[in-house]
Amino acid sequence: MTTRILTGITTTGTPHLGNYAGAIRPAIRASQQPGVDSFYFLADYHALIKCDDPLRIQRSRLEIAATWLAGGLDPDKVTFYRQSDIPEIPELTWLLTCVAAKGLLNRAHAYKASVDKNVENGEDPDAGVTMGLFSYPVLMAADILMFNANKVPVGRDQIQHVEMARDIGQRFNHLFGQGNEFFALPEAVIEESVATLPGLDGRKMSKSYDNTIPLFTSAKDMKDAISRIVTDSRAPGEAKNPDDAHLFTLFQAFSTPAQCAEFRAELEQGLGWGEAKQRLFQLLDGQLAEKRDYYHQLIARPADLEDILLAGAAKARTIATPFLEQLREAVGLRSFRSSVQTTANVKKKVAKSARFVSFRDEDGSFRFRLLAADGEQLLLSRSFADGKSAGAASKQLQQGDGVDIRAEGLGFGVWLKGEPVADGASFDSEQARDAAIERLRAALEPQQD
Ligand code: TRP
Repeated sequence: MTTRILTGITTTGTPHLGNYAGAIRPAIRASQQPGVDSFYFLADYHALIKCDDPLRIQRSRLEIAATWLAGGLDPDKVTFYRQSDIPEIPELTWLLTCVAAKGLLNRAHAYKASVDKNVENGEDPDAGVTMGLFSYPVLMAADILMFNANKVPVGRDQIQHVEMARDIGQRFNHLFGQGNEFFALPEAVIEESVATLPGLDGRKMSKSYDNTIPLFTSAKDMKDAISRIVTDSRAPGEAKNPDDAHLFTLFQAFSTPAQCAEFRAELEQGLGWGEAKQRLFQLLDGQLAEKRDYYHQLIARPADLEDILLAGAAKARTIATPFLEQLREAVGLRSFRSSVQTTANVKKKVAKSARFVSFRDEDGSFRFRLLAADGEQLLLSRSFADGKSAGAASKQLQQGDGVDIRAEGLGFGVWLKGEPVADGASFDSEQARDAAIERLRAALEPQQD
């Protein structure tokens, strides 16, 4: 079974070395593993919550897209898209907003932190809090649930949001799923093995501390930043303690074990800090120079990037569009045409009593059940690759054309045009089986007005 991995990157800044080692590189590696289906996207709707500078948003989207591709992400192997190119996401956000408990969102760390700060300053608790900030976790739940992600790699600060997505998804399943699971419940994945990179001053590398090393901007910028890494004052020739030097931690994050052991030995033997910085630069430049060139080529061809992202969005929407249709159906946003037809001439008993319920299976395939009025499961469909063919099969069953019910041992199957499409349960006796087949026939029988 393939595991669906999904993560979003908020587009408010320019990626630095810490983002690369902590998130981008492990995500690209994960996407190259067998048995995974990766969804990586630019969370540009989320960016609007934190930033009202259109130029910065635009610039950051471009830079982050180019960074991921230059870093080796293969857009043919993964689904790589901009959140804002998927109109189903805000639509799903609304469906989820209507089931998300306000009390749940009141507890979100980001919102609570703002409120606490306001209270501390004697201001109105909600001063400066937008509905965007408050609803941030619902939008994130829609990102995740839209694609039935199983694993969501995130930083620690985001674990709560993934848990809220589980809560909200579960509530939707409970309210509208009639026992079926529309949404797979996601799990946050924290990559313990990926160390958080220290910045120039030894604190976590972060834009808010102004201690970052740029990733792809230029070799010179990177060299300048490295020269500003804070070290102790031991002179060349004096033994250094690598475990006490964040310069060494940075080196370690990019070196092979052998390179790392050699660097450790040299520091212990008194390598000067100036030399050590030179070694770090060479190591980083060796690994990043080619990618940096590719990054600049990509940035210089924004129209090509646009095409890549639009192709990614089209790929994502082959899943999102039919799935959202099912969800709209589930909550009652249904076409009048189908119900008009129902009352006019082809009214089925099915419409009144038994009902078809479609759902996504864990492996991402599309299936449906036929439930009797009392909730008994009369049929469970086979797996369909897309929502359209699942829909077509259930429609044919509803219309009753060419439905072929075959007893198979103590169970039975339903065939359409010589293909098995759905199965009944297994029974204790042939009598019980035949009685179930009768109930199925009754459920599928056209009903005259
Ligand atoms: N909120 C995440 C962050 O700031 C970004 C994000 C948005 C995300 N949607 C997501 C991450 C869905 C994982 C899954 O880091």
